[in-house]
Amino acid sequence: MSIKNICCIGAGYVGGPTMSVIALKCPDIKVSVVDLNEKRIAAWNDDDVSNLPIYEPGLAEVVKEARGRNLFFSTEVDKAIDEAELIFISVNTPTKTYGVGKGMAADLKYIELCARQIARVATTDKIVVEKSTLPVRTAEALQNILHNTGKGVRFDILSNPEFLAEGTAVQDLLNADRVLIGGENTPDGQKATEALANIYSNWIPEERILRTSVWSSELSKLTANAFLAQRVSSINAMSELCEVTGADVQEVARAIGTDSRIGPKFLKASVGFGGSCFQKDILNLVYIAKSYGLNEVADYWEQVIIMNDHQKRRFAEKIVKTLFNTVSGKKITLLGWAFKKDTNDTRESAAIYVADYLLNEQAEVVIYDPKVSEEQILADLDYLNTRSEAENRALVTVVNDPMEACYNAHAIAIMTEWDEFVNYDWKTIYDNMYKPAFIFDGRGLLDTQKIVNIGFECYTIGKG
Ligand code: NAI
Repeated sequence: MSIKNICCIGAGYVGGPTMSVIALKCPDIKVSVVDLNEKRIAAWNDDDVSNLPIYEPGLAEVVKEARGRNLFFSTEVDKAIDEAELIFISVNTPTKTYGVGKGMAADLKYIELCARQIARVATTDKIVVEKSTLPVRTAEALQNILHNTGKGVRFDILSNPEFLAEGTAVQDLLNADRVLIGGENTPDGQKATEALANIYSNWIPEERILRTSVWSSELSKLTANAFLAQRVSSINAMSELCEVTGADVQEVARAIGTDSRIGPKFLKASVGFGGSCFQKDILNLVYIAKSYGLNEVADYWEQVIIMNDHQKRRFAEKIVKTLFNTVSGKKITLLGWAFKKDTNDTRESAAIYVADYLLNEQAEVVIYDPKVSEEQILADLDYLNTRSEAENRALVTVVNDPMEACYNAHAIAIMTEWDEFVNYDWKTIYDNMYKPAFIFDGRGLLDTQKIVNIGFECYTIGKG
């Protein structure tokens, strides 16, 4: 079966880049990306591609080439569903904030709404692909909704989780380590699997397209994120031990990373992982394990989150303690707000929690991030509901110039590993700060020796 028309519901960090790359690589397939969010769709359609709603290196070029040719962004969800032979569901699956499973389980209401909409609109057979990260056995629920439409339309459900990392999404999509497709082990299920595999085979080598059962595929995505986050928490746990023993976590990471069984990637100690996925997916995993009565499994993975929360908190505490136990009325500059470099995504960014802690201590917090807007930063702080919106605006200043951000500061905290921070004129920054001038390097980004030679008091995560 050769697919000619694809629809993707959800034009977010996954749907947008993923479909852009599919459209780029498959010029004969019409790809419609739809979303309820009109502002987001308008931004995807902006003539000036520097205004796309998502910042990813290389994405603007891909969109420029494919948009209007075979890539379309629109709010006409029904029309796109009706026309498509294959529908990706790529909507958000945040942690539930209410009811049973509050704070742990994935909220599947957006997924269910999509399924109901597909069921209502579809007049021809569809392959429905779970692109969102979902709890294991969600496909069963989708099947139940879709198979009861009474219109005689056939739906085949596949799981095709996305493994891209924000900040390198385009490269990850163009050169994926693997594409995972979970399908039913029936002739129809296999036909659907092959139809999707055929799309990817336009640019992904056959041996990298893995086929599994639907349940294995759904669970593999949660497992991958749990393993990745666990490595971060593991090295972060060692960073605290390094600090008290006089060791250096970067040296330890290099030493263990050369062991081919361990490998060098994902061993960077930091102020804690962020992003929309790691925490939500592990909490979901913990919830699933508990719901099957597997308490030891649940506790094991929950510790990854506990360690991460500890890492964010101890970094904030370190700032206050070092500044003679008070930051009240002191200007603290946060460099970086995005959860990692090369993205404008701030969801669950460690910076939010560190800023909140400092604001509780009545610091004046000044923030600079090369890609995150003031509106987003204030929205992130307001979302925590720790204090009134007016108080947040009174205590927080967002500036567009890093030198201005650091001017007259008592301390600077590096929250995101943006490359540009390395090459700032640190001597001038030092000259313009209160003394002693403190730097808290939450990413191990700067050359500590150089910074200390300028005159700074420098704390680097994981350096004793
Ligand atoms: P997002 O929040 O950026 O995008 C989701 C979009 O879906 C939003 O624009 C929203 O308006 C839209 N939407 C929700 N319900 C809709 C409906 N009924 N009809 C039309 N549009 C609707 O989320 P993101 O980051 O793209 O994540 C999507 C899924 O992909 C999640 O399950 C996430 O766990 C998973 N994922 C995310 C990765 C990431 O790096 N952000 C990586 C891999 C997977």
